[in-house]
Amino acid sequence: MKRAEIKQLLAKGKANTQVLVKAWVKTKRGSKNVSFIALNDGSTLNNIQVVVDNANFEEKLLEKINSGACLAVSGKLVESQGSGQQFEIHAEEVELLGTAHPDDYPIQPKKHSLEFLRENAHLRFRTNTFGAISRIRHAMIYAIHKYFNDRGFCNIHTPIITGSDAEGAGETFKVTNFDLLNVPQDEEGEVDYKQDFFGKETNLTVSGQLEAETAAMALGKVYTFGPTFRAENSNTTRHLAEFWMIEPEVAFADLDENMDLGEDMLKYLIGYALENCADDLDFLEKRLLDSEKNKKKEERSPMALIEKLKFVLENDFERITYSEAIDILRNSKPNKKKKFNYLIESWGADLQSEHERYLVEKHFKKPVILYDYPKDIKAFYMRQNDDDKTVRAMDILFPGIGEIVGGSQREERLDKLKQRMQEMNVPQEELWWYMDLRKFGTAPHSGFGLGFERLMLFVTGMGNIRDVIPFPRTPKSAEF
Ligand code: 4AD
Ligand code: MG
Repeated sequence: MKRAEIKQLLAKGKANTQVLVKAWVKTKRGSKNVSFIALNDGSTLNNIQVVVDNANFEEKLLEKINSGACLAVSGKLVESQGSGQQFEIHAEEVELLGTAHPDDYPIQPKKHSLEFLRENAHLRFRTNTFGAISRIRHAMIYAIHKYFNDRGFCNIHTPIITGSDAEGAGETFKVTNFDLLNVPQDEEGEVDYKQDFFGKETNLTVSGQLEAETAAMALGKVYTFGPTFRAENSNTTRHLAEFWMIEPEVAFADLDENMDLGEDMLKYLIGYALENCADDLDFLEKRLLDSEKNKKKEERSPMALIEKLKFVLENDFERITYSEAIDILRNSKPNKKKKFNYLIESWGADLQSEHERYLVEKHFKKPVILYDYPKDIKAFYMRQNDDDKTVRAMDILFPGIGEIVGGSQREERLDKLKQRMQEMNVPQEELWWYMDLRKFGTAPHSGFGLGFERLMLFVTGMGNIRDVIPFPRTPKSAEF
């Protein structure tokens, strides 16, 4: 008999037919005569109940059916008498594919802390929470490709090993095959990268943007969706050392069009989740409400998860300049009462996540797009404004997250770009190819980067970025 998936059985099963399912035991309960086994195969959040007449099976077999064990069950699909599921299976044959002894199987049918589950990341997929997150993560990946495909964008694979640090923050992981105990040196005593694998200094990419720009200058509308790596030592709930980034790059688009694209895409993705992940979102919403029960009122989320997603979908994002934001922040209560960790004193200050979240959560109470930032706190490639102080940057800020998107209109004028590279000590010899774009058929263009795990934080309502990626990489942690 062909194996049926539980999602299909629950949705389209036919009563009184023979079925075969293969799945993991969530729970087993029952009496002397009958056992009820909840099985889950990952196709849906929902379990199917298997009813076992104990008399028909060996006691030795029944004893080994514990949470986490894997079974193949065949039997009759019948309409369920109890409330809840529409169908259950009356078992005729039970094969034990794999045992899980309760003395050492970590995932027991009880509440586990997220920290504990992180230490057991190889097994946490089997919990309802991580099952739901994983299915939503998949839906978002699919929706991102669909969004761009439907709009004529071309997906580009940009390199993971590069020679450049696009953001210029110096937070790169080196790539080398040198013997670290015997690194070749040149006559000046410096590391002789000429002898290294690539004959030059290389690192893992922090962004696919610079290469995406080369493609946009021929294909028009492109995007990358790849892993990026940053050796920033930030042990926060919003930073990973390895994360995934979506980076569209659009020829002829100015900053306004860039903001339009960012807002439209975020709304599309949230709408897609609401439409296609209802069961899983429902579960996560209840989980969140439950986990916040013991918190003080002011520490709880102001809106339930689904209401929050709908709210973002239905409201225009507020668009203000960096300068306007500074005025708001300087006069804000937490600034005057010295409640911010970093007080905003003058124009030019870099915004911290506490400031971003104040603007979004307290002042405007909706997503905010900040644009025209001071050039000194942004990367070399952003288009300079005529005021000689600001650049055409834009960040999209979300409730509970802070920055979710960072982007800009790019400097397309060779002389201006060169000048900025010089001022910021960006090596021009390294980026000769990037500068070539401004020599040959240059054109205005814009793009942005959406942090995929930050999006996942928002959509799932989870509080820690380590819980929305299967195997998080953070300072001092690269298990699995
Ligand atoms: O603002 P960032 O640094 O922008 C860039 O890398 C540009 N080259 C993008 C572009 O214009 N093509 O990063 C973009 C986004 C941030 O807004 C944030 O959502 C996410 O990437 N991000 C991180 N996510 C998780 N962990 C980290 N350490 C992150 N750093 C940035
Ligand atoms: Mg940024």
